[in-house]
Amino acid sequence: MSWSRGSRGRIVIALERNMKAIQPSSLHLCSLGRDGAPHRCHIKAGFILLLTWAFLLTAIGFFSQFSLKAAVLPGTWYKEVLNQIHSFYVVIEYPSASRNRTIFLAPNSVQQSPTQIPTKTTDMSVHYHIDHPSNYHFMLDEPDKCSQWDPFLILMVPVAPHQLDARNAIRSTWGNESSVQGKAVLTLFMVGLTGGPEAQQQLEEESQQHRDLLQSNFVDSYFNLTIKTMMIMDWLVTRCSQASYAMKVDSDVYINVENLMTLLLAPNTPRENYITGHLMRDRPVVRNKNSKWYVSEELYPEPKYPTYPLGMGYVFSNDLPEKIVEASKKVKGFNNEDAYMGACLKWLGIAPSSPPDPSQFRVYMGQYKRENFLRVITTLLGSPQQLIDIWKDVKRLT
Ligand SMILES: *[C@@H]1O[C@H](CO)[C@@H](O)[C@H](O)[C@H]1NC(C)=O
Ligand SMILES: *[C@@H]1O[C@H](CO)[C@@H](O)[C@H](O)[C@H]1NC(C)=O
Ligand SMILES: *[C@@H]1O[C@H](CO)[C@@H](O)[C@H](O)[C@H]1NC(C)=O
Repeated sequence: MSWSRGSRGRIVIALERNMKAIQPSSLHLCSLGRDGAPHRCHIKAGFILLLTWAFLLTAIGFFSQFSLKAAVLPGTWYKEVLNQIHSFYVVIEYPSASRNRTIFLAPNSVQQSPTQIPTKTTDMSVHYHIDHPSNYHFMLDEPDKCSQWDPFLILMVPVAPHQLDARNAIRSTWGNESSVQGKAVLTLFMVGLTGGPEAQQQLEEESQQHRDLLQSNFVDSYFNLTIKTMMIMDWLVTRCSQASYAMKVDSDVYINVENLMTLLLAPNTPRENYITGHLMRDRPVVRNKNSKWYVSEELYPEPKYPTYPLGMGYVFSNDLPEKIVEASKKVKGFNNEDAYMGACLKWLGIAPSSPPDPSQFRVYMGQYKRENFLRVITTLLGSPQQLIDIWKDVKRLT
C-alpha cells in the first residue's frame, strides 16, 4: 500500500507475507523536503495509522483467500495473518530523487515454525557469485592518493556510475572536508561498470577533473553491492594502509565529520579490530523470493544474520580491511552486503561495537532541526539537493 502526503515525498509501507510480528517500536519516519526547508513530520501518529491500515489490508487479502475459515473462527484469523507476514520494510520515495530508499525493518526475533521453512527447489536460478576481490581489477584508480594526502580518516562512498548529482553534492559538502581537528580526511567514490562507452567516457572525464573515482570491472547493480563493498576493502588494503580509520558511507547520507573525528580521537576508541555504526542485531534472513533482500538457503543457511552495522555508514579501524578480505575467501558471498560484513566479522571473531552515543548514527532525523544535525555523526537524507541545503544551514555562523 502507499500513502501520499503532498508533493514533497511519498512514504510507501510494504508488507510482505510470512512475518511473525511487527515491532516498529523505534521507528521515527519523516518526509524530508528537497529544499532543506523545515520538514513537516507527523509521522509517529501517521505511522501507527498506516500500520493499522497495512494490517487491515493484509487481513483483507488474507480474508479473501481464507474467508470460510476466518468466518468460522473469527477469533483466530488475525493470528494467521501475523504468521504469514515475514518481513517488513519501508520505501521512502522522493519525487525529485533518482532513487528510492528502502530500509529493511524485519522484526528482531522471528522463530520460524517448521512449516514456514521453504522447501529447496532446484529449478530456481541460484544467485551465486564470487565476491572475493581477486576476481576484479581497477579500471579507474588513484594509487598514489593516500601517499600524497596521508589521511587519518578515509571516507569510501559506493555509488552508481550515473549518480553524478550525488557525487557533486558530496564534493561540495562533507567530501570537501580535507582537514578536521588537524587531521587529514579524504573522500573517494567506488563505482562498477557503466552501461556503455559514452557513460564510460563521461566517467573518465569526471575522474580527470576530480581525481576521486575508483572503478572496478563488475556489473554495477544492487545485487552486486557485496562485490562493491569488498572492492572498497581491497582498495584500502592495497592503496591506503597508512590511514588510521576508514568509513564506508552511502551516497545519500549526511556526515558530520567533526563529530566523527571527535569519536575517533577519543582516548577510549580502539585503534584495532574496531567497527561501529547503527547496529542491526538478530535480523532474520529474508526467504521470500519476491523480496529485494531474498537470500537463498544455499547462500546463507542460518535463519538469522550475525550483528552487523547498517550500511548507511560504518566506521572501522583500518587494520580490518585486510582481515575482511581474508575472511571473504572463506565466507560464501551473498547479496546483502551489510549482513555479509557481519558474517565476515563473525568468522574473524570480531564483534561490532556500539557507538558511545548510539543516537549519533540515526537512520532518520525527522523534522529538520539544525541542532540535531550539529549533534549526529550520520543520518539518511532524501536527495543531493537536501544535503547541500542542510549543509549550508548547519555550517552557517549563527
Ligand atoms: C520508487 O518506488 C515506486 C513504487 O514504490 C516505483 O513506482 C518507482 O519507479 C520507484 N522509483 C525509482 C526511481 O526506483
Ligand atoms: C571546497 O572548499 C574550498 C575551501 O576550503 C573551496 O574553495 C572549494 O570551492 C570547495 N569545493 C567545492 C567543490 O565546493
Ligand atoms: C554481478 O557482477 C558479476 C561480475 O561482473 C556479473 O557477472 C553478474 O552478472 C552481476 N550480477 C548482477 C545481478 O548484476
